[in-house]
Amino acid sequence: MDYQKIIEEVYQEVQSENKRGKVADYIPELANVNPDQFGIGLVDLEGNVFGVGDYEVPFSIQSISKVHTLVMVFHVFKSKLWSRVNVEPSGNPFNSIAQLEFEKGVPRNPFINAGALVITDALCSKFENPIEQISAYINELSGKSCVRINSSVKESEKNHAERNTALAYFLKAYQNFENEVDQVLDVYFSHCAMEMSCLDLARSFSFLANDGYSIFANREIVSESHARRINALMLTCGFYDEAGEFAFRVGLPGKSGVGGGVAAVMPHKFSIAVWSPELNEKGNSVKAIRALELLTDKLSFSLF
Ligand code: DON
Repeated sequence: MDYQKIIEEVYQEVQSENKRGKVADYIPELANVNPDQFGIGLVDLEGNVFGVGDYEVPFSIQSISKVHTLVMVFHVFKSKLWSRVNVEPSGNPFNSIAQLEFEKGVPRNPFINAGALVITDALCSKFENPIEQISAYINELSGKSCVRINSSVKESEKNHAERNTALAYFLKAYQNFENEVDQVLDVYFSHCAMEMSCLDLARSFSFLANDGYSIFANREIVSESHARRINALMLTCGFYDEAGEFAFRVGLPGKSGVGGGVAAVMPHKFSIAVWSPELNEKGNSVKAIRALELLTDKLSFSLF
């Protein structure tokens, strides 16, 4: 399979269609990025790398980091985790608060903000320096030291933290939050403000395409059965209230972030990350989703 040729074709087609969206501005610092950037990085299971466009430019991974933190917690807490967070699609925006009250403080899934805050809280209970642990973990998954926290993005989000703060206090009101709200939010904003390139991000997701074994870390990260479950969660919940549409158009487990990145995996074949900052009204990258749709069409395979 000539992945390089295919991603170059995809890149050209997406650029010529030039579908536009709007960069995230509720985190003001994210509104300062050049909206024309666009890159695709793909890694196969032998570790061969393919890239086109801005695939080596670091960008704000935002909610994509929720996959890394979930994997860390999955490993440490195993099945105990599922009493604190569910595994159902939410059908609601990522920062919605309404459902949390109806469902008595147990978030629908680990990828909406409420669920990710529970995961970050669990990491704060486990580790003395959670953010160092998270960075080290992602670096290991990528096989190199590539993670950098953009402190301007972190501070920018911290200064506009009303919704996430409300979610955290709500969780605390339902005794589903063990640590101080400010401490957990600081760690959460730090991991959301991590920057990585498409290529490094694809490397860090590679184990999910490979039954849990990372060829970059040279070890099993999670069991094969855990890898399947994380992929199932990405497929059903990775795009919030657009998860059905992503499964319909692309058919791969994936996770988006408001920095405009999408990471996805084709089990037993490859991992991929696509980045373009302009988002649709659901907070997902317009060009990244289109690129992945064209990719699975050209490959004539997806999960289905
Ligand atoms: O908590 C937030 O709102 C952001 N740090 C992350 C949201 C996000 O990336 C949603 N994804 N599309």
